[in-house]
Amino acid sequence: MTSPGSAFWRRPARCEHPGAESSWKRNELTERWILVRSSSQLTGLSSLSNPRVARPLGAARRLLGSAAGSPAIPRSPRARPSAPRRPGPGPGPGMAAAPHVAAELLFYVNGRKVIEKNADPETMLLPYLRKKLRLTGTKYGCGGGGCGACTVMISRYNPITKKIRHYPANACLIPICSLYGAAVTTVEGIGNTRTGIHPVQERIAKCHGTQCGFCTPGMVMSMYTLLRNHPEPSLDQLTDALGGNLCRCTGYRPIIDACKTFCNTTGCCQNKENGICCLAQGINELPGFEEESKTHPKLFSEEEFLPLDPTQELIFPPELMMMAEKQPKRTRVFGGERMTWISPVSLVELLEAKVKYPQAPVVMGNTSVGPEVKFKGVFYPVIIAPDRIEELSVVSHEYNGLTLGAGLSLAQVKDILANVIPKLPEEKTQTLRALLKHLGTLAGPQIRSMASLGGHIMSRHLDSDLNPLLAVGNCTLKLLSKDGERQIPLNDQFLKKCSNMDLKPEEILISVNIPYSRKWEFVSAFRQAQRQQNALAIVNSGMRVFFGEGEGIIRELSIYYGGVGPTTICAKNSCQKLIGRPWNESMLDAACRLVLEEVALPGSAPGGRVEFKRTLLISFLFKFYLEVSQILKRMDPVHYPSLEDKYESALEELHSRHHWSILKFQDADPRQLPQDPVGHPIMHLSGIKHATGEAIYCDDMPAVDQELFLTFVTSSRAHAKIVSIDLSEALSLPGVVDIMTAEHLEGVNNLSLLTEHETLLAKDEVFCVGQLVCAVIADSEVQAKKAAKRVKIIYKDMEPLILTIEEAIQHKSFFEPERKLEYGNVDEAFKVVDQILEGEIYMGGQEHFYMETQSMLVVPKGEDQEMDIYVSTQFPKYIQDMVTSTLKAPANKVMCHVRRVGGAFGGKVTKTSVLAAITAFAARKLGRAVRCILERGEDMLITGGRHPYLGRYKVGFMNNGKVLALDVEHYSNGGFSLDESLLVIEMGILKMDNAYKFPNLRCRARVCRTNLPSNTALRGFGFPQVGLITESCITEVAAKCGLSPKKVRTINMYKEIDQTPYKQEIDAKSLIQCWRECVTMSSYSLRKAAVEKFNAENYWKKKGLAIVPLKFPVGLGSLAAGQAAALVHIYLDGSVLVTHGGIEMGQGVHTKMIQVVSRELRIPMANVHLRGTSTETIPNTNVSGGSVVADLNGLAVKDACQTLLKRLEPIISKNPRGTWKDWAQTAFMESISLSATGFFRGYESDMDWEKGEGHPFEYFVFGAACSEVEIDCLTGDHKTIRTDIVMDVGYSINPALDIGQVEGAFIQGMGLYTIEELNYSPQGVLYTRGPNQYKIPAICDIPTELHISFLSPSQNSNTLYSSKGLGESGLFLGCSVFFAIHDAVSAARQERGLLGPLKLNSPLTPEKIRMACEDKFTKMIPRDEPGSYIPWNIPI
Ligand SMILES: Cc1cc2nc3c(=O)[nH]c(=O)nc-3n(C[C@H](O)[C@H](O)[C@H](O)COP(=O)(O)OP(=O)(O)OC[C@H]3O[C@@H](n4cnc5c(N)ncnc54)[C@H](O)[C@@H]3O)c2cc1C
Ligand code: FES
Ligand code: FES
Repeated sequence: MTSPGSAFWRRPARCEHPGAESSWKRNELTERWILVRSSSQLTGLSSLSNPRVARPLGAARRLLGSAAGSPAIPRSPRARPSAPRRPGPGPGPGMAAAPHVAAELLFYVNGRKVIEKNADPETMLLPYLRKKLRLTGTKYGCGGGGCGACTVMISRYNPITKKIRHYPANACLIPICSLYGAAVTTVEGIGNTRTGIHPVQERIAKCHGTQCGFCTPGMVMSMYTLLRNHPEPSLDQLTDALGGNLCRCTGYRPIIDACKTFCNTTGCCQNKENGICCLAQGINELPGFEEESKTHPKLFSEEEFLPLDPTQELIFPPELMMMAEKQPKRTRVFGGERMTWISPVSLVELLEAKVKYPQAPVVMGNTSVGPEVKFKGVFYPVIIAPDRIEELSVVSHEYNGLTLGAGLSLAQVKDILANVIPKLPEEKTQTLRALLKHLGTLAGPQIRSMASLGGHIMSRHLDSDLNPLLAVGNCTLKLLSKDGERQIPLNDQFLKKCSNMDLKPEEILISVNIPYSRKWEFVSAFRQAQRQQNALAIVNSGMRVFFGEGEGIIRELSIYYGGVGPTTICAKNSCQKLIGRPWNESMLDAACRLVLEEVALPGSAPGGRVEFKRTLLISFLFKFYLEVSQILKRMDPVHYPSLEDKYESALEELHSRHHWSILKFQDADPRQLPQDPVGHPIMHLSGIKHATGEAIYCDDMPAVDQELFLTFVTSSRAHAKIVSIDLSEALSLPGVVDIMTAEHLEGVNNLSLLTEHETLLAKDEVFCVGQLVCAVIADSEVQAKKAAKRVKIIYKDMEPLILTIEEAIQHKSFFEPERKLEYGNVDEAFKVVDQILEGEIYMGGQEHFYMETQSMLVVPKGEDQEMDIYVSTQFPKYIQDMVTSTLKAPANKVMCHVRRVGGAFGGKVTKTSVLAAITAFAARKLGRAVRCILERGEDMLITGGRHPYLGRYKVGFMNNGKVLALDVEHYSNGGFSLDESLLVIEMGILKMDNAYKFPNLRCRARVCRTNLPSNTALRGFGFPQVGLITESCITEVAAKCGLSPKKVRTINMYKEIDQTPYKQEIDAKSLIQCWRECVTMSSYSLRKAAVEKFNAENYWKKKGLAIVPLKFPVGLGSLAAGQAAALVHIYLDGSVLVTHGGIEMGQGVHTKMIQVVSRELRIPMANVHLRGTSTETIPNTNVSGGSVVADLNGLAVKDACQTLLKRLEPIISKNPRGTWKDWAQTAFMESISLSATGFFRGYESDMDWEKGEGHPFEYFVFGAACSEVEIDCLTGDHKTIRTDIVMDVGYSINPALDIGQVEGAFIQGMGLYTIEELNYSPQGVLYTRGPNQYKIPAICDIPTELHISFLSPSQNSNTLYSSKGLGESGLFLGCSVFFAIHDAVSAARQERGLLGPLKLNSPLTPEKIRMACEDKFTKMIPRDEPGSYIPWNIPI
């Protein structure tokens, strides 16, 4: 088998490339042949602007040729034995046998030829790369094109334009059969640690752009592809290029910084919004900005970076070029077990195929068909893939408009429009501009590069961004069949699939004609999504008006909406009625009423958010009215009145894409030894391996002999009796080995999960949708999944169905016990206060969205009942415990190993243990290795997440804002089992005071038992919820007192030495310092005044500013929970191996441990190695969580090192100039052990809940964050303009890692409080099961300016080198964005005369923002009587 990751094709004898004068050179480092040519030759996209006219049908060339003679890659021994292959599409209903010969699939991967003789059309590139070619650098994150983890670069040569096109693509949606003649480049193909890394890989690692590293290969490939096309990209291109890649760890800033090093900038943010350069004015009027950024230590040094040399890149394989140029073409047919793929060579053949297989989809990008097949179970026996038909790529400028081939990708269309628009008179480009605008935000660059215009139009998705615009633009579709050509309009009837206006089954769409707009014709595009980029629109719209002449009377009007019906909807009657009316406010008013009547959305409409959608319908209309009025005024200032200045804000764009950051941290102590790495911003130990794809995650491990795959059947009902389970059909499928139910687990089906027993597989009754019912085990993942679908379970629904906290309170459905903490005398205090207010705030849950889903491989060793478990977990000992209790085996037989985890955030503790226990049971039962990897949708459905919270408070305060009494109730939604919920509410109670001294406090907390998947730990462990409740209370007090929230916060804050409600001493000096520094650093007062001025001048846009303090107690609540152990070996060559109980999940704990060893043993970091965590080397490990992993394990590592040093001291002092090799050898000769364990007992801590006092925490992390936002009152959109964070981190062991923790957590918090919204049906079914429905922050969401400053450390402490743990605390600071939005919404409401209390729940989504900014439009919409309809979703 060829090894596509390691070699390159041989140097060709003669170059057939159009740039034939180029010369060949051998790169000594990479051992590759490279073609040296000018950078312009490397780009392929420029070709797309070449207008080409469609060839007449008969001129389509028929070519013949084959890839014979090339060595084939033999099938992997692990590959599923293939069924006998059919030579072509087999006869079936309506299908004649195809006359074609089955083809060999030939493409290149990383410069190596791949020939697949049995290409299965159902196989996607991602599993092919990972399982067949063993190129595991490309990751699975979602399987649906939504996360970018699987990004690869596809290169294709066009023999007609003689250009190569490189584009990014999602391997999870690329059928391998579509790759004939293409070159695929994966992360392994651009560099590796053996032959040399690529500058992109180097820079992303050295700029600290990787944490868990799971997203990194995808990021690298997006960046790499950009550089292949634009070696010196602009910042716009850079942010666009990364728009389709999600990262859950870093907060994107370091990734942007890494990429920026390739941009041709001079340190300027390129944000010349006011026409002034940032360097000239100081960003946001912050004087001294540039000077400050220069004087602080840097996280990386650009001087070290490898230069980017475009001539050193992989060239396009000459063989593929020759094939494309010379090889006679013929139709290719790939026959799989169930599906046949036909790739016709010419238009004639395409049409013939369409006649023969009229029901077969015409697959271009597969971004619509692919997800349909994968997620909706649709099956097509035949696929027609016309990717080679030139006529589908036509670009033709005609007198009446632009004609674009249906086969052009959306990225190509975007480039073409960007090229064409400046060349045409402005009045002709209205539709083109509107299309270009939406193409900028439609999906991410990978999807845009894959998806075709024809596929987009034909899919007729209800939320299509382009169809509303193409429809208002009077576009026509050119259709072709064997019977000839015809044109149909792209109008409402086409969109509704009316038979007389739709394609006939044997027709295909050839091209789209987009007419040029005329003078006095205006077209606009609007959309609002949960996230600005890479998110389907909630509502979108295309609007066009034509006035005929300059008199301003409507001659034509066309309005289409997406997202508000089963397909794109036309407000036809409304438009008709408005014709002849002048363009004025009364027309607008009538238009709004008409549209609301015509586009009537029922309360139960799918997708929910009904009132928001209704409001958007007319808010967009209003925007259109203003836009057109503004242009009319510009065109004819005499006849058209000016818009009022403050209304103009409705038209301004919110999003700026240029990011800028300033990071301040203390330099390492100058008294340190030069080689001592502690305090230095050392790169993540695995950073380079993350970037090259060499870092091995659980599912990257090669298959074990005879390995099986396990998948789950989960409950489809929220509360029901299991009447029967029928496994017969599933068991009869080939490859199915076993199906386990609760019966098989009799006697071991209950695990003692922390505080309560939990059932592994449901028995008799189910308590939530997603509960595990059966485990299907088969010899492949595909077969296991197929069989799981055939398991038939009959349920009988049961009462009550409790989903929400309110319902749980109503039914008194709680887990015991209630927790309570009381301090002072609340009732007495209420008697003396000036004012009392009562309020409540509700906060939704959060999905962990670790990029690596739950993964495990259990391998029975075949001897002494030993078992190895390779698993992605934060708590190996716990997995070991759960497995041994299920297997009734002693712990010394079952070992759990964790090399690294691709993100965890609390979600890989209890949930993983349940999955591992079942998987291990199957492995033991069957005596074979079993792998279980959850798909993203399964993971989101099964594993729960952060607890939704309801906080009710009664607060007594003085008129100056001083709070004297606070009585709070916390209710968390625990789901159907207790899991860690009790611990979460306990931590919530202990941390609820945040930074405030409440002299009289009562707080009670309960966990609600509901019919939802059980919720669990998530970064912050209750604090983000309770902190928000407390801060809301403070904000409301401020509003009542007429004071600023900042003032009320300052008044109530802890000052110097004080006592917490549980009577632990607190020294708040650093808190006050953080607060003051944050106020100063953010120029709070100056900017508050600027915000107020902005708000006074702008009616439809408002800004908000908020500053929030942080006191985050760190500690695990008991001495035992804090114990940690380490093992350090010194080998005779002087190298050191360290291992400890902490798990590397992105936070960089292994890097810090090596820093510790390096300091303690005074040995270079390069001589110290760490292989991972295992219960075999460190028994009885504690959970990695609670911000203390490095802290505790570091003390154990230090202890081991000191033991070794003590032993070796006499040897070292005898030979102080010796090396570690000398000392180790001497020690060996003197029989002194070179191996030592280290131990740390944990911090003394206790909490007596009866008395309500204790010392549960070791120390406090203090901080403050100030955020400024701008909101669009008409759409609910928001932008974080700037965030300033000051943190007290003690003495940072590694400022790069620590800044990474703070900013990564901050962005995760920002997501929690603003856009991350889980949606459930009224029956308790989770709708949000992937990145396409659940939006975590993407690169477009991060603050435009981010300033982070670490407080200068002042005190030494018992912690590791006086450092502080930072994993969780920063998350809460994300609520500064929540309160800034709150501030902006308040400003809008005040201006509109709405002076009552403002109740805003979390997350503050566009829907909530828009609906809170009440105005004439929100008043205009119809409202549904509660109870008069069944809503699509319910707030959980
Ligand atoms: C992650 C993700 C994010 C997305 N985000 C957005 C977004 O923000 N906004 C938005 O509007 N859309 C979005 N989409 C949808 C996307 O725009 C469409 O999936 C895409 O345009 C379909 O094009 P395709 O070439 O991949 O179609 P395919 O999947 O290849 O085909 C789709 C359908 O079109 C038919 N078809 C294709 N070409 C022809 C032809 N020439 N003649 C006749 N029939 C034809 C096929 O038969 C098939 O039924 C997103 C999709 C994904 C996966
Ligand atoms: S795995 Fe392909 S985009 Fe997520
Ligand atoms: S580093 Fe990006 S997801 Fe973990």
